[in-house]
Parts: sequence; C-alpha cells; structure tokens
Amino acid sequence: MDVIIVEDAAAVAERAAAQIAARIAAKPNAVLGVATGSSPVGTYEALAARVRDGRLDCSAVSAFALDEYAGLPLTHPEAYHEVIRRTVTEPLGLDPARVNVPDGSASDLAAAGEDYERRIAAAGGVDLQLLGIGANGHIGFNEPCSSFASRTRMKTLAPQTREDNARFFASLDDVPLHCITQGLGTILDARELLLVAQGEGKAEAVAAMIEGPVASICPASALQLHARATVIIDRAAASRLRLVDYYEHVQRHQPANRIPAEV
Ligand code: F6R
Repeated sequence: MDVIIVEDAAAVAERAAAQIAARIAAKPNAVLGVATGSSPVGTYEALAARVRDGRLDCSAVSAFALDEYAGLPLTHPEAYHEVIRRTVTEPLGLDPARVNVPDGSASDLAAAGEDYERRIAAAGGVDLQLLGIGANGHIGFNEPCSSFASRTRMKTLAPQTREDNARFFASLDDVPLHCITQGLGTILDARELLLVAQGEGKAEAVAAMIEGPVASICPASALQLHARATVIIDRAAASRLRLVDYYEHVQRHQPANRIPAEV
C-alpha cells in the first residue's frame, strides 16, 4: 500500500486529483469508481477546476458510484443519484449516460445488486476506485464484518454511520436504515484503489486499515489485499499511525516515474 501523508485537506484533494487526472490523461475513456460523502468533495472540486481551464477532459469517462440509500426517491437531494449528479457528473462534464448509481429505489434490491454487477462487468471493470473511509472502518457501505467476498447487495447501516450522516438530513430519523452498496469483493476487483481521509475523527480507522490485521471488523483493511492501493491522508488522519517516519521516507525517495506527472 502506498501511504501518502500531506499537510492538510486541501493538499489531500490536490494530490488525489493529480493522480486521477494522470490516469484519465493516459486512458480518456477510463472507468472511475466514485464515492460520495465529504471526503472526496475537495478532490472533485480540484478535478472540476482542471476541466474548467481545459487541462482535463472527462467527456469519455464512465463512472460507477459505490452505494446508494435504499428507499429514498432518486430525486431526493441526499439520494446519491442526486449527490453524484451535483458533485461529479455536472462539474466534471461527464456524459450522464455513462454515470451509474445503484438503484436504491428498486423493490428487489438483490436483483438491483446483480444488475449493477453486470453493468460494471459490461463496462470492462473499474480502472480506478476512489474511496472514503467511515469512522468505523467501512468502505462503500460495507459495515464491520462485511464479507471480503461480498458483491453489490443490500446492507443495514450501522447506528454510527446513520449518526455520522445525520448532518446531511433534517434529523436522525430521516437517515435511511438500509442501503445498496458495492461489496468488498466488487471494490477489490477495481484495477486501482485510491482512498482519501482527512481529520482526527478518521485517525483510528485509518490506523486499523493500514497497520491493523486484515480483518472484516475493519472492512477497509481489505485494501491490504490489493496490489495497487494508495491512501492519501492529512496529518490529523495520520496521527495514530506507528510508521509515519517510514511512509515519509518512502515518499521522499519515490522513483520519479511513480509520481503523477502533474505533481
Ligand atoms: C460514500 C461511501 C462511504 C463514505 C464514508 C466516509 O459513498 O462510500 O464509505 O466514504 O462514510 O464519509 P465522509 O467522507 O462523509 O466522512
């Protein structure tokens, strides 16, 4: 795993955007896996700035969202269909026909999960999956003790996740109880993983992900099983790591050809 520690949230966004932009430059019709939540917002803004000033063209890029709440109308402002349209599809100039979000409004969520897996496969698989991490170590909405082999399916949100996400809703009671999410197995199939995290509130989960055992109690520890995973975090999110000096030593001595061209 590549662990990149930068000063602050703005630097996380810039570094992650540079890595994604470099991948799109190399493959203009790349398939991007996109996360919602607060963590990737700065990254999307940094990518949108590149699109606006003509340094990046995302018009041939396809996207697959990680997850969606179950039971919200697709037009609800906090439904990930809407969030992805607002924060990714429009600002990055993606073709809406190439943007996919699991159908949390489906009456048969198992069938919707299978359909989503088929759509990812038909697109040729995900080239680069952008991820955030929950305070309880979840990625996507794969809550603790999700199977490492899981595929897109219905899950029950953990009480902590509902409380964390209540900030987006009028009240805790308005946060859906269920969701549909890519599985850990689905996420591990992406050709490259890029996780961003900022702030002290993520420090414990980040330490468990990078330095803890591979164990489903911390679903993000699945990244240790991936041959091409990068974690970009700020100092606060890195504050519980034991090997900070080593990660910084590795980054200082990166061969030039492993650094995204723009950085
Ligand atoms: C959202 C997702 C979640 C979030 C995680 C962190 O699509 O997959 O795993 O990345 O809950 O959320 P934030 O970034 O809001 O702290």
